[in-house]
Amino acid sequence: METVVSGIRSTGNLHLGNYYGAIQNFVKMQYEYNCYFFIADLHSLTTHPTPDNLHINVKNVLVEYLAAGIDPERATIYVQSDVPEIAELYLYLNMNAYLGELERSTSFKDKVRAHPDNVNAGLLTYPVLMAADILIHKATKVPVGKDQEQHLEMARTFGNRFNRLYNKEYFPEPYAFNFSQNLVKIPGLDGKGKMGKSEGEGNAIFLSDPPEVIRKKVMRAVTDSGPTAENQAKPDEIQNLFDLMKVVSAPDTIAHFDNLYNTMQIRYGDLKKQLAEDMIIATAPIREKINDIANDAPYLRQVARYGAIKARESAQKTIKEVREIIGFKSF
Ligand code: TYM
Repeated sequence: METVVSGIRSTGNLHLGNYYGAIQNFVKMQYEYNCYFFIADLHSLTTHPTPDNLHINVKNVLVEYLAAGIDPERATIYVQSDVPEIAELYLYLNMNAYLGELERSTSFKDKVRAHPDNVNAGLLTYPVLMAADILIHKATKVPVGKDQEQHLEMARTFGNRFNRLYNKEYFPEPYAFNFSQNLVKIPGLDGKGKMGKSEGEGNAIFLSDPPEVIRKKVMRAVTDSGPTAENQAKPDEIQNLFDLMKVVSAPDTIAHFDNLYNTMQIRYGDLKKQLAEDMIIATAPIREKINDIANDAPYLRQVARYGAIKARESAQKTIKEVREIIGFKSF
């Protein structure tokens, strides 16, 4: 059975981008593959969380994984920092990751632009840690959104480089995966790029957002003053709203608003109202479970401990073999 690995950074609550880009696939994949889904708390250290925030954010992601339908009996759910073998593999892979290629990564360049005062080595080697996450279980499929595609390419590069260096076909090649063939990019509500937790207030709809918050955020989404000709191309901010509709609304609803746009009769207020209601319906089953799971400390403890044991079993096997391949020998 093929092995699947994916993770989500614990830098805040999960949003619709995480859900439709990644988690929806996790839930389906757990029935077909040997799955490892983790909470990337080591990755979150690049943003320097306080100890309290670190723990709260890890807990939130764990709770929301479970509320979204990841079954700990089927998939291995674990916290990245509970598996120190990942950090060890990261160290080995770092020895063969080069400054030039790390600096060229799009996400690194974006981070440097956004936070020029915090360009730390962890940010630079972020794709190496991600490769270690994947290679530690020798995974071949990685359910992620479109923004992670380049990181997957780097994971293949680092795995292949290790194989070549030691002249051994050890790590298989991991590829980004989505059931719908194409990787997904869910737009945010600010009229610009993708939905993200660090893109500013109001850009993201979180799975834990109550209905009234969803309504408020959607009503504030950026729009223009309306089409000025029939069948006009949609500007980015309007196309974004239609793209969001594509994930939560029925096809005839989208066709209805598309038609109103093309005939210049659209009222953005109506479109937003509909979009908000469809988002509320789409997230309700998850939202309703979040509180109960969050209050069940013994269950969360059990899930995290069991997941760590299973993940370490697999990781320890890889690290033992990697150490032998590299040439570490005990006396
Ligand atoms: P992160 O935490 O930013 O996002 C987690 C997952 O959600 C997807 N995603 C989106 N998909 C579509 N549209 C969006 N607007 C959107 N926003 C987020 C991401 O593509 C991702 O799949 N580096 C990773 C976490 C990670 C990881 C890994 C993933 C660490 N190690 C190993 C896979 C394998 C990240 O920061 O994702």
